[in-house]
Amino acid sequence: MSSVRIGIAGATGYGGQELLRLAAAHPQAEPVVAMASAGGDGSRELPGLRGLWGGSIEAFSLDRLVETADAVFLGLPDTASAELAPALLARGARVFDLSGAFRLRDGAARRRWYPKTPDVEPPAVYGLAEWNRPALAAARFVACPGCYPTAALLALKPLVAAGLVPPEADVHIDAKSGVSGAGKKPSERTHFSEVHGSVAAYGVFAHRHAAEIEQELGRTVTFVPHLVPLDRGILETIYTRVRPGTTADEIGQALEAAYAGRPFVRLTADRLPEIKHVAHTNFCDIGWRVDAGRVVLVACLDNLGKGAAGQALQCFNVAFGFDERAGLIP
Ligand SMILES: NC(=O)c1ccc[n+]([C@@H]2O[C@H](COP(=O)([O-])OP(=O)(O)OC[C@H]3O[C@@H](n4cnc5c(N)ncnc54)[C@H](OP(=O)(O)O)[C@@H]3O)[C@@H](O)[C@H]2O)c1
Repeated sequence: MSSVRIGIAGATGYGGQELLRLAAAHPQAEPVVAMASAGGDGSRELPGLRGLWGGSIEAFSLDRLVETADAVFLGLPDTASAELAPALLARGARVFDLSGAFRLRDGAARRRWYPKTPDVEPPAVYGLAEWNRPALAAARFVACPGCYPTAALLALKPLVAAGLVPPEADVHIDAKSGVSGAGKKPSERTHFSEVHGSVAAYGVFAHRHAAEIEQELGRTVTFVPHLVPLDRGILETIYTRVRPGTTADEIGQALEAAYAGRPFVRLTADRLPEIKHVAHTNFCDIGWRVDAGRVVLVACLDNLGKGAAGQALQCFNVAFGFDERAGLIP
């Protein structure tokens, strides 16, 4: 089979560059067009991709994406995806959206958190490949999960599905992210001199990823993200209660049953995971400890890998019938 032609909008962004790097080494795909924004300089170089990708960055063009690519990846601000994804779908493109614009299915939640997003029918498939494989296999439009929700959901969903977390148990997610999670455009909050040597909570009861986690978990959660002085990586410490008498082995069995044959979830049991072991990979590592009806789960991943570009390529692999690991595990 000839290579699937990939188009990337937002290829000069953090997620887009990572995707371009991965796609350039994919055995069954070829990035044929990579774009900056409309005003972007067409001659722009990506120094990190020298020797890995021989193409050149173009200014954004919807026509060119539709005409040249079999699969279009959007690494754009959510407002741009909200406008461009429906236009691409209407012209027959298969779309993998890294933004949050189309992740929320409930109309009221979507209007609150993504007010520029229109309704699309059928709605996007939520691209958590470990849980949504059958829907992904036929998908023409995929909303790739957010970085924080990916770690939280991969850790919590097996326990909730197995009935180990009682309905009345509070779920607290204490999350820490490196600064690339905020994209390449610096702000006062993400400026080096603000972040270096500090840790700060933000978005408490006001972060759109809480709505996404709650949608996919079917539970209310208390989600508190923090910005930490790292360039990339997310670590989440998750606290909840389990049914009395639940052992660490039973937690492990629920996680192992959920992720048997799933190449990108690594279970570390009581050796709690660390960001440096998942940085620059598509892995999500999950560890856990249990004591007297309380469980602490620690989940970590690379926000630009399993939290963005790697996950998008994993969805592409499932949607096009390739080995899920293609381009992601050498
Ligand atoms: N960063 C993460 O860890 C992460 C994780 C998961 C999901 N996401 C989501 O993925 C998306 C991209 O994030 P990012 O961090 O890669 O962003 P970013 O670093 O800010 O890059 C944004 C990209 O979009 C382009 N762009 C901006 N406005 C555009 C428009 N109107 N039309 C066409 N292109 C436009 C930019 O081009 P120029 O270079 O010309 O400005 C740039 O290539 C966001 O929706 C984000 O929420 C990010």
